[in-house]
Amino acid sequence: MGIFTKKPIGKLLLDADDGEKTLKRTLSATNLVALGIGAIIGAGLFVRTAAAAANNAGPSVTIGFIVAAIGCALAGLCYAEFASMIPIAGSAYTYSYATMGELVAWIIGWDLVLEYAVGAATVGIAWSEYLNKLLEMFGMRVPYEWSHSPFESLKDASGMVLSHGIMNIPALFIIFMISLLLIKGSKESAVVNGIIVISKVSIVVLFIILGWGYMMPANHTPYIPPASTYTDSHNITHNFGGIWGILGAAGVVFFAFIGFDAVSTAAQEAKNPKRDMPIGILGSLAVCTILYVLFAHVLTGVANYEDFRDATKGKEASVAYAIKTYMTNYSWLGNLVTVAILFGFSSVILVMLMGQSRVFYSMSKDGLVPKMFSALHPKYHTPYKSNLIFLVIVGAFAAFIPGDIVGEMTSIGTLFAFVLVCAGVWILRVTNPEIPRHFKVPLVPVVSILGIVTCIAMMAGLGTTNWMRLGGWLLIGLVIYFGYSKKHSKLNNDNK
Ligand code: ALA
Repeated sequence: MGIFTKKPIGKLLLDADDGEKTLKRTLSATNLVALGIGAIIGAGLFVRTAAAAANNAGPSVTIGFIVAAIGCALAGLCYAEFASMIPIAGSAYTYSYATMGELVAWIIGWDLVLEYAVGAATVGIAWSEYLNKLLEMFGMRVPYEWSHSPFESLKDASGMVLSHGIMNIPALFIIFMISLLLIKGSKESAVVNGIIVISKVSIVVLFIILGWGYMMPANHTPYIPPASTYTDSHNITHNFGGIWGILGAAGVVFFAFIGFDAVSTAAQEAKNPKRDMPIGILGSLAVCTILYVLFAHVLTGVANYEDFRDATKGKEASVAYAIKTYMTNYSWLGNLVTVAILFGFSSVILVMLMGQSRVFYSMSKDGLVPKMFSALHPKYHTPYKSNLIFLVIVGAFAAFIPGDIVGEMTSIGTLFAFVLVCAGVWILRVTNPEIPRHFKVPLVPVVSILGIVTCIAMMAGLGTTNWMRLGGWLLIGLVIYFGYSKKHSKLNNDNK
């Protein structure tokens, strides 16, 4: 027993049904696909696409999207097999506890904080950019100082600093509001989410159709810029153009796909998880991939990627900038996009914060994090204490760290979790072939291996700074595991 202890799958399923204290099963397949799309389309598309074009790949960011989609589809298949086999809350964390033992499970659970909590902060920061675009329609804006982190400054073309960030208040505000909504419960949240998903998909489609005629061939030439480097405003040098540019872009826009796996964190709230989880995960992924490639093609055709490097032009709220600057007949679309994006980002934050609290709910039930993370509200049956704690943590990230940094940390952390999930499916096929699987990944281990290779290639594209951040984060996690979790682990203590 110890760090390699595995949680028996029978016990997992039993724990999922422990009477009235469990989460309510209220979500249907349609709710789950909506939940998925709600989580998927967000800052990755509306903010990170332009950043990837500017810093990494120019127009070939579309190829980056295809690489990222391949990685996600492969990992998505693995997620779907797990979700159909172990249909309870906790996502990759729960799966790895059953397959690779407690230490790996802890590492994944801790790593998922990067995906969900830090990811929610990233989207909160993107929300802040678009809020300023909305306010601009009324001739107002939140001053630069109060809508940016202390690590950012506004410079003019000559490089002179015009203003320094202090704290991102709008980002903090939206995290606060969504946390309150979550505490009220996921059924109500799912209804709000449904409305938002429809408006979000509509504006993506509208932008593709209307923007198509405004694409300038010059902006797409050359489609894959020759390999070089580009140093951004935080003095970080990126590989630009060529294969490494595309892989870097894939790592960045990979953020846009994050969320389909968040569906799996809601397994315990699904009415018919065995059938509906694979539908929810793969269905939402398929819809988004098609939209993303088209959207990125139009965006980099309408505006030149150089615009997205310039803080005084399209570096922030890039889609609204592109529409207002180049699609002049459609300024109403720019306004509509801004409003829809604000709502759209809110639904992404909602699913990410929900995913976060559900992962820690499961970890707390297992004794790996303190009990308060699984305390349910007496009336709303939601893990409200956990929501409040993450409100503080996520709020701090959103208020004080730049969007690029939290965005890339989210990408690398999630890619790492995907690698472990791809490996987990393969391991479980060998160690527990007898467990019924309502959905089976075809061609294991080929799919697992391809998934692992694609995700590691994207991680490589994200560069050494991000690897160091991931390493630092995991190191902190190990200290907590050996200092707290190992001693408090239920499974280890039950077995003594
Ligand atoms: N996929 C989500 C987004 O792009 C995280 O905002």
